[in-house]
Amino acid sequence: MNMPDAPIIRPRRLRQSAALRRMVREHTLRLDQFIYPLFVDERLREPRPISSMPGQFQWPVSAMAAQAERIANLGIPAVLLFGLPETKDAQGSGAWSPTGGVQAATRAMKAAVPDLIVMTDVCLCEYTDHGHCGVLQTGRNGVTVANDATLELLAREALSHAEAGADVVAPSDMMDGRVGAIRAALDAGGFVDIPIMAYSAKYASAFYGPFREAAESAPQVGDRRTYQMDPANGREALREVALDVAEGADIIMVKPATLYLDVIARVRDQITLPIAAYHVSGEYAMLKAAAANGWLDERRATLEALTAIARAGADLIITYCAPDAVAWLREGD
Ligand code: PBG
Repeated sequence: MNMPDAPIIRPRRLRQSAALRRMVREHTLRLDQFIYPLFVDERLREPRPISSMPGQFQWPVSAMAAQAERIANLGIPAVLLFGLPETKDAQGSGAWSPTGGVQAATRAMKAAVPDLIVMTDVCLCEYTDHGHCGVLQTGRNGVTVANDATLELLAREALSHAEAGADVVAPSDMMDGRVGAIRAALDAGGFVDIPIMAYSAKYASAFYGPFREAAESAPQVGDRRTYQMDPANGREALREVALDVAEGADIIMVKPATLYLDVIARVRDQITLPIAAYHVSGEYAMLKAAAANGWLDERRATLEALTAIARAGADLIITYCAPDAVAWLREGD
């Protein structure tokens, strides 16, 4: 037998029992790090299932107080709200209506469970009739989203969310300068203590497909590649993050999550602010579809994906899997 001269170094020693493995485990998912996204539809009276996101619903405003209680009872500390308005227009004016779905849901949820952290997505794509994340202009590149004209509208939307009682606002539009514009509007409105969670490194991803069914926000013409990032770019994420930090963001987000673990890790190395990662609709749909076919063990695959996101350096995880994940974590392994 050909034994090496030196004794074999044996990493397997520390994997011999579950207790030992737990003891040397580097990352453990915590209930406190989950954020659960919810869709509120002003037009609905009954919840409506989202076919490409099994287990997720569009909710009527009237259901939101009970949802707040259900989520808080599961031990999930925070929600992220998206709104579907009664009517859409070119500007997306439903976004800053004081009686809009997100505003009404925020009031209802905070009244029902004051400790639940209500975060709101700030974007216009659910509210515009053309489905883009800002207002349109026609120029030398044809029809594009007008950056600076959109900033003012996003600021109004964020302010209306804060006025409704939102604890955190989360701009997802990817316009240049929007964190600064929203910070200024919040401060001027007396909301200096409301943090901004910025979708900083948000990629133009095919994995938002199911969300666009859920939020009815697919662009009617073109796509989002003139404002969301090119999936081929890693360094550029650091530039986007640096800008949002400079403009006053309090939490930095990378989105999607599991395909962008390298980006999460690089951002982690560069900044000291908390990092959120958005495990998006397509990442959820893939797990659900494979599990439904019996091709993956749903529990193990989901917890592995979420643990990988934490290992890469995310502090907060936004995921549609939150209710399942917290139940599994309570059961232990
Ligand atoms: C709005 C927004 C999107 C998502 C979050 N905010 C869709 C998009 O940019 O097209 C995607 C979330 C998901 O896929 O779960 N701009």
